[in-house]
Amino acid sequence: MKPIAIACDHAALDLKEEIKKHFDETGVEYVDYGTYENKSCNYPDYAEKLCTAIYEKKHELGILVCGTGIGMSMAANKCRGIRAACCSDTFSARFTRLHNDANVLCMGARVIGAGLACDIADIFINTAFEGGRHQTRVDMITALEEKLSK
Ligand code: RB5
Repeated sequence: MKPIAIACDHAALDLKEEIKKHFDETGVEYVDYGTYENKSCNYPDYAEKLCTAIYEKKHELGILVCGTGIGMSMAANKCRGIRAACCSDTFSARFTRLHNDANVLCMGARVIGAGLACDIADIFINTAFEGGRHQTRVDMITALEEKLSK
């Protein structure tokens, strides 16, 4: 598997560092697309950096964290080929990989703690898409990108 892409805004810098530390301890490779400091910034900039890298096929999966996870997921879902899921529980993380082939996980640093966030991240990166009938539905999502982007 290609390295995981990870990025955050200022609100989730500490959570991103906790996730990176967990990945270092468990041998998961990643590339950090920023932000690298506590200074206030705009989350769409970091969603764009990470989603561009996925669009360019440098990564298969990415993790975006902000205060709620919601702004990042909204921004990421505007990007071609991105299926971002904002998750605060492990069940959703598992099923968004199994059924939606989500390629970006978003989480909120003001919503969940680091322990849960690391569990969610592990499940997300270690669960494969089921395909089959779910592929048809994912293809329908992709078709919407064309249909409603004019
Ligand atoms: C930043 O204050 C906050 O708005 C951002 O991190 C995020 O929660 C947006 O959805």
